[in-house]
Amino acid sequence: MEWTREKRYLPYSKWDAETLLDLQAEAANSAYQMHYHLHPISGLVNDPNGFSYFNGEYHLFYQSYPFGAVHGLKSWVHFKSQDLVHWINLGLAVKPDSMADSHGAYSGSAREIDGKLFLMYTGNHRDENWVRTPYQIGAWMDKDGVVKDKTVLFKNPDHITEHFRDPQILKENDTYYAILGAQDKAEKHGHIDVWKSKDLKNWEELGFLNLSDHVLGYMIECPNIVRVGGKVVVIFCPQGLDKKIADYDDIYPNMYVIADDIDFENHRLINPGPLHNLDEGFDVYATQAFNAPDGTAYEVSWVGLPDTTYPTDDENWANCLSQVKKLSIHDGKLIQEPVETIKSLRRNEEKVSGKTIKENTTGQYELKLNISANQTGTLHFAANDDLSESLQIKFDTNDRKLTLDRAQAGKKVAVDYGTTRSTSFTPHEDLKLDIFVDHSLVEIFVNGGEHVLTGRFFTDPVNQRIKFDQDTNYQGTFYNMETIL
Ligand code: FRU
Repeated sequence: MEWTREKRYLPYSKWDAETLLDLQAEAANSAYQMHYHLHPISGLVNDPNGFSYFNGEYHLFYQSYPFGAVHGLKSWVHFKSQDLVHWINLGLAVKPDSMADSHGAYSGSAREIDGKLFLMYTGNHRDENWVRTPYQIGAWMDKDGVVKDKTVLFKNPDHITEHFRDPQILKENDTYYAILGAQDKAEKHGHIDVWKSKDLKNWEELGFLNLSDHVLGYMIECPNIVRVGGKVVVIFCPQGLDKKIADYDDIYPNMYVIADDIDFENHRLINPGPLHNLDEGFDVYATQAFNAPDGTAYEVSWVGLPDTTYPTDDENWANCLSQVKKLSIHDGKLIQEPVETIKSLRRNEEKVSGKTIKENTTGQYELKLNISANQTGTLHFAANDDLSESLQIKFDTNDRKLTLDRAQAGKKVAVDYGTTRSTSFTPHEDLKLDIFVDHSLVEIFVNGGEHVLTGRFFTDPVNQRIKFDQDTNYQGTFYNMETIL
């Protein structure tokens, strides 16, 4: 079947129930499907949206195109949780059902205001000549999860192109601010644009944020600001970023900057630092972060990349979200850790030892390893008998290097952008790894979250061996992880 423009933007009401049920069955039955990470019920998911705390619970939405593994007419699907680990699916929440979001309810954020959840997102509208207008929309969700009162707040000002989207709603003192990804008309560079409002109705543009002295590509998507350990962390996706400014391997990077503070009125970061990759693995994009009422900063990422095909496209579904990670700053460095409550998914704790860690697994586990200093080797995951097919972690604690290698990991993904990702850490010390595998997803936390490497992999699902290539001195604990989704 060919995905014509007409087909991608066909109203949901024109699809038949049987098609949707078949797509749901395909996604549910896939051996590559995740079972403790948020994933599509059918079709494609992308950005996390509206990550917030409201009415005593955490809320999280994601961008969804339910009718296939393509970027079509987008909506928001709603989940809630008490603990950031066990999520309840509340179904479709923001539909592309108005003039302003006729071609997609695009990404945005949420915040509890006066007993309701205020949603702020981009309505993607196109006219009959396919000319796009990005409308920034406000809507209110009540405690029953019903989204009402959609209102257009503002559209792109004259000096900004149609690339103007993904508002994050913030509050400082008694004023609301919104930051958005933008491309200026004059030079076609990427920016974060800052807006302000006293009443959420009347909005005024303040100007671009001084994120860096460098040009940050041609467009910035999904900007987020969170306060972490007395600092301000800005997370964003600069498309077309020159690799001399900050090196990266994925088609588009997800980067962050740490600043001492922010002065919203003057759209100025105080002492912004250099750009860093948020995740040093593959496939992380559009990360969304927010400060919970107690101040804790949490983030969740899309594990998937724009303009990239994945092997499950053949099964008509694609992508997932990462686990929720807690942010902190130690010695000026951003630390990303699993939330404490992820431990509630652990089953059957088992101390592991020897060259072969496991002959077989269900593909759904956490493996904690402490690899003693001054060793090199390769750890194979999802491996077959002779280790010719596997996902590999190569470590060298002398040379302080860790490499995630998916060259031999079955079906290929985005090989034009390389098959390995590496990170470095303190040499001659024990290497602490906390590795989460959920079928076709791996998340590796290095030395307590100093580095995170995430990635999808598509080895033959029958191969579930975990084995070192040589005798290695380590301590390890293995847990099966419970199915929650
Ligand atoms: C990022 C993005 C956003 C946009 C959304 C549409 O992945 O392109 O900029 O709002 O996806 O689904």
